[in-house]
Amino acid sequence: MPDASVLLEDGGRHLRLLRSGGSDLRFHAIWLRDNAQDPETRDAGNGQRLITLSDIPADTVLTAAELHNGELACTFAPDGKRASFNLHWLETHAYDRDQDRRTGRMPDEARPWRAGTTAPEGHLPELQSDPDALCHWLSAVRTYGFARVTGCRAQPGGLFDIVSLFGFVRETNYGRHFEVRTEVNPVNLAYTGLGLQAHTDNPYRDPVPTLQVLACLENSATGGENMVVDGFAAAARLADEDPEGFACLARYPARFSYSGSAGVALSSRRPMIELSPDGEFRAIRFNSRSAAPLTDIPFDDMAKYYDAYRRFSDIVDDPAMEVVFKLSPGEAFIVDNTRVLHARKGYSGAGSRWLQGCYADKDGLLSTLAALENACTN
Ligand code: FE2
Repeated sequence: MPDASVLLEDGGRHLRLLRSGGSDLRFHAIWLRDNAQDPETRDAGNGQRLITLSDIPADTVLTAAELHNGELACTFAPDGKRASFNLHWLETHAYDRDQDRRTGRMPDEARPWRAGTTAPEGHLPELQSDPDALCHWLSAVRTYGFARVTGCRAQPGGLFDIVSLFGFVRETNYGRHFEVRTEVNPVNLAYTGLGLQAHTDNPYRDPVPTLQVLACLENSATGGENMVVDGFAAAARLADEDPEGFACLARYPARFSYSGSAGVALSSRRPMIELSPDGEFRAIRFNSRSAAPLTDIPFDDMAKYYDAYRRFSDIVDDPAMEVVFKLSPGEAFIVDNTRVLHARKGYSGAGSRWLQGCYADKDGLLSTLAALENACTN
């Protein structure tokens, strides 16, 4: 940051950084004090904060601030604390800037997609041996919420090789993994040859499984293609076409439940379209099979809610939203279950179709990706 200067303002309650090549950036004294990087405030080894807010006087102000060699040296009152901040770090963490707070917006690193999008793809042996290839593939999952994998073992348990690329299996009452093939007396409709509407899995859990991996071992049945829909793109389309309906699905909790197996009675109370407090898409829950009676919507809004629900369902069913592919043995795909809906076209009893599925956690995937990206830039 060349030619920067600094001013204390509002009695030292904040400072103003004047930059020759950019707009001013203001920082509050309390924010700076809380974010001091010195070894008394932050552990030098793991970077964790060593103090709580009660260790910082409530009437903290700045009494001096000086720029020298790319560092901003601050002195605080009333405790006389001194702390120094790297200017690049301050720019990276600046909050005094225009921030996008539109309701129903995509997360920064996500890109919406519709039909015609080519599924991102990685080849497992390459993902296992080449950090750049892995970084590229994980980044695609973050951007699009789904990706295919080729070159897997078409054997039971082969799907765990994919999870091992970035994290750990999330075990549920369905087991460490589950089989998806036609069964007599199925405990879940997923285990029949029926086509399924695009859905997110397990909305009756809280939190939901954030990733799902489905790997193909056999697929000689007629039909049985897999299909994915970008739930964020579908919700954004609803917001465009029917803003009131969108607001209705985002505002009221839906209910989901599952008690199809002995000893299991899962239930949740969460909206179909979940937004962060500042309006960013956080999660989609959409699954008619496990939707429980809606009991949290006022009588006067129930008809409107159902209209919005139907409209959202019609958007999800619109072929213009779907990407379809058929898995061959040794191929798999991963979906971000908080965003991307998946479905299966119906298939006939002729031939066989056998997939194995499991769940995993997106925070682990994003952590692995961020660590790889940090390693690339350092
Ligand atoms: Fe599913």
